[in-house]
Amino acid sequence: MNRAPRKYANYIPIRELEGVEQQLFPFQVYAGLRDNTPVRYDNHRECWDVFRYEDVQYVLKNPKLFSSERDRANASMLTTDPPKHKQLRDLVNQAFTPKAIEALAPRIQEIADELLSPHFSEGRMRLIDDLATPLPVIVIAELIGVPATDRQKFKDWSDALVKGARDDSDEAFQELMEEKKRNQQELASYFTAIMEERRQRPEGDLISILLAAEIEGEKLTAEEVVGFCILLLAAGNETTTNLITNAVRILSEQPELQQQLREHPELIPTAVEETLRYYPPIVAIGRIAKENVELNGQTIQAGEQVISWVGSANRDSAQFDQAEKFVPDRKPNRHMGFGFGIHFCLGAPLARLEARVVLQTMLRQMEDIQLVPETVLQPIQSAFVFGVKEYPIQFTS
Ligand code: HEM
Repeated sequence: MNRAPRKYANYIPIRELEGVEQQLFPFQVYAGLRDNTPVRYDNHRECWDVFRYEDVQYVLKNPKLFSSERDRANASMLTTDPPKHKQLRDLVNQAFTPKAIEALAPRIQEIADELLSPHFSEGRMRLIDDLATPLPVIVIAELIGVPATDRQKFKDWSDALVKGARDDSDEAFQELMEEKKRNQQELASYFTAIMEERRQRPEGDLISILLAAEIEGEKLTAEEVVGFCILLLAAGNETTTNLITNAVRILSEQPELQQQLREHPELIPTAVEETLRYYPPIVAIGRIAKENVELNGQTIQAGEQVISWVGSANRDSAQFDQAEKFVPDRKPNRHMGFGFGIHFCLGAPLARLEARVVLQTMLRQMEDIQLVPETVLQPIQSAFVFGVKEYPIQFTS
């Protein structure tokens, strides 16, 4: 029997993770699933779940067997298979090289200083609202070429792109899909207008660069340029917010790390990587099987949905020594927090840079960073995002 997915399993939490405690700390649950049911079919969500490092890697490195394509109106690089995927990715890569990203460091430092400095004398701040949310939004807006006056509008659209359903009913799912479609259309007409301007008068921003990009006579279509800008918002903003927050959450849960990183700031880049392993902003990645595939003794049939739990793979002791421990100087660190294979996160250099600048600045200016006592943490309601809704901190300076 072909159990074709009825809805996107990514939007429905797995049963074992329904409680708040489990969502705030899912890693114990992952460990049990990894040991007992490494590859299993979930009748409730109508998908397969894959929990071990080796199996997750196998799924992600075989796009011929496990497709990223969805029947969404606005296909983007993220939801495209080879050979089209390579063509899109090569074109945008020209604007997204590690070197081009590194050049943004001084401006990111300025933005981080602007957002952080009003709070130094107060001794407390709302980490997410004051810093971790606005920073990536401002950076992406400037990179793309969105005028500063449109930032609020831009942020609202960006938030709506990654919103989850209010419950797991079909109605809620339909409603969410319609809302997302409306939002996408608004964003598309907004970006189309900017694009038309840049076509007339190119500037140094990403939209102008993308309009000019060309490989072997192939250019991006207007639709592809707009689709790519929307993808950057959907893929880059909330993820980076959660990376920053998850990193600070680790520092306040394990305060000895603060002094260690202050004394050895050269370890901050490896500590950022370790955050992506230990508390990854994205814990699950979806694919659709294209053929019948045998995986760890189970037969996945063509058309079925497969969820790869990178959040679990990242704690697999078959791959990592002391897998349950945060090791700030872990090297090598083959975590899959940015995915693996051809869809490996295009924005990884940017996310790494933003997290590094923020941690350097916070550790330089703040001591004894803690979660404000009595705070009740609330997990983000999402099956594939790992993060909290608010994270108020206090510190001495
Ligand atoms: C792809 C995670 C930040 C742009 C991915 C994938 C993951 C990921 C897991 C692979 C998805 C898949 O295989 O289906 C993250 C995390 C981030 C982050 C954890 C922050 C900490 C960013 C940023 C940008 C970005 C800042 C852009 C500004 C993209 C794009 C793709 C992608 C365009 C699709 C690449 C492709 O399909 O070839 N990201 N991301 N991401 N990410 Fe990120």
